Amino acid sequence: MINDTTYDPHPFVKWAGGKRQLLLQMEPYFPKKYNTYIEPFVGGGAIYFHLKPKKAILIDNNKELINCFKVIKRDVNGLIQSLKKHKNEKNYFYTIRAVDRNPEIFDKWNDVEKASRTIYMNKCCYNGLYRVNNKGQFNAPFGKYKNPTFCDESNLKAVHFQLQTAEIMNSPFEECLKYSKQNDFVYFDPPYHPLSQTANFTSYTRDNFGEESQKKLADVFKALDNRGCKLMLSNSYNDFILDLYKDFTIIELSAKRAINSDASKRGEIKEVLVLNRRGEEQW
Ligand SMILES: C[S@@+](CC[C@H](N)C(=O)[O-])C[C@H]1O[C@@H](n2cnc3c(N)ncnc32)[C@H](O)[C@@H]1O
Repeated sequence: MINDTTYDPHPFVKWAGGKRQLLLQMEPYFPKKYNTYIEPFVGGGAIYFHLKPKKAILIDNNKELINCFKVIKRDVNGLIQSLKKHKNEKNYFYTIRAVDRNPEIFDKWNDVEKASRTIYMNKCCYNGLYRVNNKGQFNAPFGKYKNPTFCDESNLKAVHFQLQTAEIMNSPFEECLKYSKQNDFVYFDPPYHPLSQTANFTSYTRDNFGEESQKKLADVFKALDNRGCKLMLSNSYNDFILDLYKDFTIIELSAKRAINSDASKRGEIKEVLVLNRRGEEQW
């Protein structure tokens, strides 16, 4: 373990729906005391890295993303060595991107090489996002950035240090039911319910997260409320979500989002933060 006490870890990938811009608005609602921090849709982990909890369980069903977390925890130096070999060049980018089209080759890559590929492509692709087609193959184009930092050594080491006390799982969100206990803090940041059919809706993985999934998630939320967990959930602001969580405290937040398929047209949009804290109850 690398022992660095002056560390400030932050997300090592740019991820759709990243919560960094909402942190200030969310800050007053984080519980002051809890046992384990559990995040069943961890994504880039903006809230986890902000809170730096002593004990955590991080879950996501994106296999490549979770592999990155595990590799950073276990072999950050190996990952740094591998990342340094990449080049910010168009032809090179497309050669690396094409590897997952050829399972015979990709399956032989080790976990460090796969994590290094995912982080490199996330930093060098257009818009810096993870995007896959319906076969699960990475399909974002080259980003033409002048000097992208795909090997942020000090952050990777800080993340490595923070992750030593985290359990990391490639699982569906329901897995949190196995681990969440009274006084644990569980933060849910699922794929948002789309505001309308035409609203910009990003597919994070091959699985769609439709109304049935939102309902299952609300059932998990209620089950953990009954167990005495401290709960927080983000989602879009619309009648469907307001109705699913009508028995809980709803806070309105305001976020800058691409509300149109044209990413340049950004606007202020309302989001909800659902809490199972009743009234002014102290957490
Ligand atoms: C909104 S993003 C999370 C954003 C993240 N909190 C951040 O700050 O970057 C949603 C995440 O949920 C994951 N996901 C989608 N469906 C899932 C499921 N059924 N179970 C677990 N994770 C899922 C996606 O892979 C994605 O990383």
